[in-house]
Amino acid sequence: MKKTIGYIFWGIEKGLDKSAFEKIAKKKNIEIVTFNLSDTLNEEEIEEKAKKCDIIFNNSGEDFAIELVKTLEKLGKKVVESSETYYYSEDKWMFYLTCKKNNIPTPESILLSESLDLASEELKKFACWPVILKRIEGTGGDFVEKADNLKESIKIIKEFWKKGSERLPIIAQEFVPSPSYRMTVVGDEIAQTAIKESTGWKHTGVSSERFRKFKVDDDLKKITKKIIEVTEMKICGIDFLKKDEKWLALEINSSPGFGFFDNHRDELVEKILNFLVNLVNKKINK
Ligand SMILES: Nc1ncnc2c1ncn2[C@@H]1O[C@H](COP(=O)(O)OP(=O)(O)O)[C@@H](O)[C@H]1O
Ligand SMILES: [Mg+2]
Repeated sequence: MKKTIGYIFWGIEKGLDKSAFEKIAKKKNIEIVTFNLSDTLNEEEIEEKAKKCDIIFNNSGEDFAIELVKTLEKLGKKVVESSETYYYSEDKWMFYLTCKKNNIPTPESILLSESLDLASEELKKFACWPVILKRIEGTGGDFVEKADNLKESIKIIKEFWKKGSERLPIIAQEFVPSPSYRMTVVGDEIAQTAIKESTGWKHTGVSSERFRKFKVDDDLKKITKKIIEVTEMKICGIDFLKKDEKWLALEINSSPGFGFFDNHRDELVEKILNFLVNLVNKKINK
């Protein structure tokens, strides 16, 4: 039977991904129902559309998407990624704790107190200079900075709080100079690898850069398998750093970019569609 997949996106964000999705879906005889976050979000309309969907894929990295995802879940729909991943996997402190608990190597981190006096004491005790400061949530390196000393750290924390619309908790993290190794995972398959490397210390983003693939050794395969198991993420981008030839898991992202290699976008999208259809079939046959 023809499957219908919901597709959450935001306006023109990731326009090429959306076109690829619609194109490949058509080829595979899959119906796509779109949920545009930048349109009006009328409850009845959402419900009508949701009814048609066998499964829904959220391809928006916007914070705003979470409420729609939760609404669709309340309507009994399965959304990939589920809203839970926002709280437990994409939260950088939760990711650190999950790694520690499961012996997954990750940069040493501490959660800072909201009081600047206490945070100063904590940073002194952590004694790891330079230190990386980052908000527990954020994307594109927007809330990630490096501080050489305590004074700079406090300045950065204040700036984060001024810049953000809310005062979110901040973690301090060991600085690991390394390119960023992005692994795109679909189900239990490593679908793509890309080294992100810029001139500065922050290696982030998809746009206007050239990427290289990298080789996945057995160690990294094992680590990745464990991360997928414990976070229960289905379609995600995992970033790794390398310290003394050892892999460190940095963070996990839902709705990862598909555009690292333009000529492989369709291939990646096809893998995702196959995966989603398989999930639906598994549920039907259960
Ligand atoms: N502990 C760290 N050591 C060295 N570089 C880091 C560290 N944390 C982050 N970075 C750099 O900053 C980039 C953005 O950080 P990340 O934690 O991935 O935040 P975001 O969610 O904003 O992408 C990373 O891709 C990496 O290049
Ligand atoms: Mg990142």
